[in-house]
Amino acid sequence: MIRLRPATEADALQLLRWRNDPGTYRRCIVARPVGREEHLRWFRDRLRSPRTKIYILLDAAGRAAGQGRIDRGRGSCEISLGLGRESRGRGLGTAAVRALTARAFRLGARKVVATIKKDNVASVLAFIKAGFRFVRCARTRGQDVYLMEKTRCDLKMALDAASGLIDETMVAQYMRQKQMLEREAERERRPYFAPRPAYGHDQRGPGADPRHRPTRPPDRRHA
Ligand SMILES: CC(C)(COP(=O)(O)OP(=O)(O)OC[C@H]1O[C@@H](n2cnc3c(N)ncnc32)[C@H](O)[C@@H]1OP(=O)(O)O)[C@@H](O)C(=O)NCCC(=O)NCCS
Repeated sequence: MIRLRPATEADALQLLRWRNDPGTYRRCIVARPVGREEHLRWFRDRLRSPRTKIYILLDAAGRAAGQGRIDRGRGSCEISLGLGRESRGRGLGTAAVRALTARAFRLGARKVVATIKKDNVASVLAFIKAGFRFVRCARTRGQDVYLMEKTRCDLKMALDAASGLIDETMVAQYMRQKQMLEREAERERRPYFAPRPAYGHDQRGPGADPRHRPTRPPDRRHA
């Protein structure tokens, strides 16, 4: 179990120690240790920012196991985390991803995203276990990364499944239905956004679509 406590100025040096652990900085996008002054500037700036929330990850005994961050972007939140060396490999990372994701949704995010270096096996697995899915591979600042995400709907499904309200088969069925509805909605939208060929030049033009078929002139023979 992991609880989140908002970080304060007093946590600055602990965060620096976690950040500069070789097992952590090698897995960061900026893969080098950071200096004390650089870190303090960055940390104070982040603490003041309305777009960032930094948390201390507390284990079941209330010990500080690591740090987690939520950064609000346009339409989504990005989460990232790092555990102290002695706290890794015990399932706390997975629990922390779950806790940070739930917090981001509670803060109003509709989608939570993560950028993870391809060779960071433990992190990729922790995010998969917490219900994230792969979106695509990318190259960020010279590093090969996976972009992963979890949407609010996935979270609700997972919670419902976990609480025993519905089983996994139902979750899969709902997800298929949701995708079908999304595809249907996409098809509905398309005619309004796609450029339409000029009338008469294409069989698939306005004449082919009943919504665009010109109304016939009124029959006046019996008038
Ligand atoms: C990434 C990190 C948060 C994962 O947390 P963790 O508590 O170590 O991971 P978990 O114990 O929840 O394990 C998640 C899965 O990864 C596997 N795993 C853990 N450490 C591993 C390792 N070194 N190599 C391969 N797999 C590993 C676990 O076995 C588990 O899978 P399983 O349940 O199928 O066995 C943590 O290792 C960490 O802080 N690393 C350094 C900083 C970092 O990489 N941050 C993430 C940047 S995106």
